[in-house]
Amino acid sequence: MTRQVRHLISISDLTDRDCRYILDQAVRFADRRADSRPMLDGLVAGIYFRKTSTRTRAAFSVGALRLGARIVTFGPDDLQTNTRETIDDTARVLSGMLDIFVARTTGSTEELRAFSAPGEMRVINAMSAVEHPTQALADLTTMLRRFGRLDGLRVLYVGEGNSTAAALALALTRFSGVELELRTPAGYGLAEDVRTLAAKQAALSGSLLSERHDMTGGGEGFDVIYTTRWQTTGTSKPDHDWRELFAPFRVSSELWRASPQAIFMHDLPAHRGQEVTADVLDGPASIAFDQAQNKLYSAMAVLTWCSLPQPAEMTPAAYTATEAAQ
Ligand code: CP
Repeated sequence: MTRQVRHLISISDLTDRDCRYILDQAVRFADRRADSRPMLDGLVAGIYFRKTSTRTRAAFSVGALRLGARIVTFGPDDLQTNTRETIDDTARVLSGMLDIFVARTTGSTEELRAFSAPGEMRVINAMSAVEHPTQALADLTTMLRRFGRLDGLRVLYVGEGNSTAAALALALTRFSGVELELRTPAGYGLAEDVRTLAAKQAALSGSLLSERHDMTGGGEGFDVIYTTRWQTTGTSKPDHDWRELFAPFRVSSELWRASPQAIFMHDLPAHRGQEVTADVLDGPASIAFDQAQNKLYSAMAVLTWCSLPQPAEMTPAAYTATEAAQ
């Protein structure tokens, strides 16, 4: 049987059904963590990280191993791309040897699309300069496990409109009644194309997306308050005084006055005292380390989605986790 080769380079690559399937599978892996059959037995996954990573690299490496795949790892100095072999040639060679390629790059998603061009090797974006799609899937898995639903959640995102924020906006605006409010420093907001696409999705799904560049006033009763590190991995800021711009966007317990029930999420790594105060990150509202653990389950879900028969071929049992949660 010829199967479509599925890649995850952007959240916008996923249909709503794909997205739901991955989240359902992630919840299933989380709930039955001792019951992971070797579904990927016989496959080989290349794990290529050109930038530092603790969670994403461990999640995909351990996830692939738990599912029965074997892994080959490549560090930032390993591939001949460093000696100017082209991505196209590299992809052509690797696609004849690897079944899956999990890559963290410093470049655009176009570079990852070039890796996917030969078509045989599934390519997974483990964070590029513009988007961190597997983080968003871990984040939504975390919210789904916590609240039993995504529809109608009210989420306040505070900080840079970085690759995590982009993926979060593209993922959350698919769900009905979601309200996503971003508070980003001026000049460090969501990329225009991401905001446009997310706003289009929001109009279709009945969700709301808003962005402001200050921390004054604003909503109350958020379910989730989310931030990320001010210095996003693999990026630098052009202006010297960026810390002054970011200082008002530090998440502290003051935000809980208006949203006393909110949980706190952070994609980690964190810098206590910069983007978040220690009492929030280490306090009772924080589920940041559960969120990190969910990266393993969502990575396993992405790996199976890429590698196994299409969701349409799966039995309805694949959807029971979310139905049960709802
Ligand atoms: N959140 C995240 O992507 O963590 P790592 O950089 O450690 O993979």
